[in-house]
Amino acid sequence: MRIEKTRYTERFGAVKINEVQKVLELDSGRRSESSRKEEVAVDKIEEEEMRDIEEMMTVVVPIRDEKLKLFEGVLSGIPHNCLPIVISNSQRGKVDRLKMERDTLEQFCHFTQRQAIIAHQKDFELAQALERCGYSEILEEGLVRDGKSEGMVIGILLALLLKKKYVAFIDADNYIPGAVLEHIRNFAAGFATARSPYVMVRNLWHYKPKIEEEGLYFKKWGRISEASNKYINSLISTKSGFDTEVVKTANSGEHAMSLELASIIPYASGFASEVQELMSIFEGFGGVLPQQDPQAVEEGVEIFQIETRNPHLHEEKGKEHRAEMLLPSLSVVYHSPLAEPELKQQICEELRSQKLLGEDEEPQKPKTIPPPQMVALECLGRYLWEYLSGHLTLK
Ligand code: GDD
Repeated sequence: MRIEKTRYTERFGAVKINEVQKVLELDSGRRSESSRKEEVAVDKIEEEEMRDIEEMMTVVVPIRDEKLKLFEGVLSGIPHNCLPIVISNSQRGKVDRLKMERDTLEQFCHFTQRQAIIAHQKDFELAQALERCGYSEILEEGLVRDGKSEGMVIGILLALLLKKKYVAFIDADNYIPGAVLEHIRNFAAGFATARSPYVMVRNLWHYKPKIEEEGLYFKKWGRISEASNKYINSLISTKSGFDTEVVKTANSGEHAMSLELASIIPYASGFASEVQELMSIFEGFGGVLPQQDPQAVEEGVEIFQIETRNPHLHEEKGKEHRAEMLLPSLSVVYHSPLAEPELKQQICEELRSQKLLGEDEEPQKPKTIPPPQMVALECLGRYLWEYLSGHLTLK
């Protein structure tokens, strides 16, 4: 794979935010020496190196009542050497969707000769193990709370138990399996070129096609990401004194982290997770607030943003759903201890203009989930090994 070298980097304390990098070639052929001239501008990542990284990567697929055809397509796009971890919050009443998802996964594993894990977010054993090991903030009424982020954090904990090095997140409602494959290759490219062990790779879709009256329109920006990017960039600008537009992936659902980084940052509930991850990094390692982890501060935290070649085509869940995402996303920025009063004011105005906030209202603070490192892993392992063995789909 060939990818543009990072050309421009914004620094925020110990955090390096790289400008968006473009993929030049999805497949760069056989191993060959790169010329000095090429090395100046291009990173070439060899297939063997991609495979080595994929072997150490878990791919968490959060799923809630998605079409099985889409789920099956997503699985087919996950490279063979990655371990898929499916965290479901689908209905289990008369229609047991978890059972259907498990059947789909089992069939996939059987015919592709691979392993995967599937667990339900509302399993009582899981909640009990988390409570016993000191992680009850993720629970509500004795079970894990609803929310995509909650599913992601369970995935991180399982990846830690399995001693993997990287964790990636891929939504289950992607229409294009080739895009899933590309997402993961982009993550591997980011990890291959990172210098610090504390790394995050966020994908920016090239286009998100919409069907309009005149035909297919290749839209570049969604309204939610546009707003989240704007206010996060404003926050960085107020700290540095220089205007910036460096953040272009505030709501990037398809992203990945080294487990060193994933285990030390706090998360926000539901759909606020991607914005919270960025804010947690700025708060913890940006040098403005007390530093959270001396080792990470010393090594630095690297954020890559990579633009996919494939377009992003996923299930459209309507206007209300978009509001469900915008409000928590901007609330995270609003409630950050880094946000200045003027920025808070602008966020309130934006939310009011979108009719998501009343005149005298303040955005509600999203619930947070503490860093996964707070869980006593040995303890979790003791409680979960047996549970997990029943949830491992073997080849
Ligand atoms: N485990 C679990 N638990 N999964 C969930 C839950 C839950 O409570 N709620 C939703 N999911 C799954 C969905 O089934 C899907 O696979 C994925 O999480 C994303 O949820 P969607 O409802 O499809 O979100 P979206 O497509 O509108 O938004 C996505 O893209 C945004 C960027 O455009 C999400 O990934 C957002 O987080 C992201 O910001």
